[in-house]
Amino acid sequence: MFSYDQIFENNKKWIAEKTAGNSDFFAKLSQDQNPEYLYIGCSDSRVTAEELMGAQPGEVFIHRNVANVVAAIDLNVMSVIHYAVLHLGVKHIVVCGHYNCGGVKAAMQSKDLGLLNPWLRNIRDVYRLHKDELNAIEDEHLRYDRLVELNVQEQCVNVIKTSAVQQRFIREGYPLVHGWVFDLRTGRLKDLNIDFPHILHEIQEIYNLTGESWFD
Ligand code: CO
Repeated sequence: MFSYDQIFENNKKWIAEKTAGNSDFFAKLSQDQNPEYLYIGCSDSRVTAEELMGAQPGEVFIHRNVANVVAAIDLNVMSVIHYAVLHLGVKHIVVCGHYNCGGVKAAMQSKDLGLLNPWLRNIRDVYRLHKDELNAIEDEHLRYDRLVELNVQEQCVNVIKTSAVQQRFIREGYPLVHGWVFDLRTGRLKDLNIDFPHILHEIQEIYNLTGESWFD
């Protein structure tokens, strides 16, 4: 663990690295952002979004919360999606979960988790939706891994339920929505290969928000 003061020393080194041979790095960076990716991941300190993707400043718009939840009444994540899709015009939206996720584990336990109860209720709802599949997995660790994956899948569905994603995709053919799981045990990033066009088609039976607005 590094000391508090070390952070500012590290920052100086980082500036030197970025500007070596590229003296206008920060001048360019400060002008604008044009990221092609929106990444929605867990706040877990071990899952460092940019580092594990090999991304540079300006390349990924990022939102992180406990257990990478996309809740319809969370003004924070909904604002991020709205801005990323309609203003930045991102081409890809990624929901990235991770094995050994403390939030997902907590949601599997019969405990009062205080303030976290309503937040983790979103994950208990994922369990309920996939109860038959999950309960059929006898090994508790494998069941936990599978809930991590299903949580990513359901949060992708929640992204696809938004009007911003539906309307932009119909008009422009993007953003595409992807579900990933980061494996802390190996460092590997796994693409769950969710079938985005199929999910979009399926959910539009109920969640179609592409029609004329009430307020027009
Ligand atoms: Co986590």
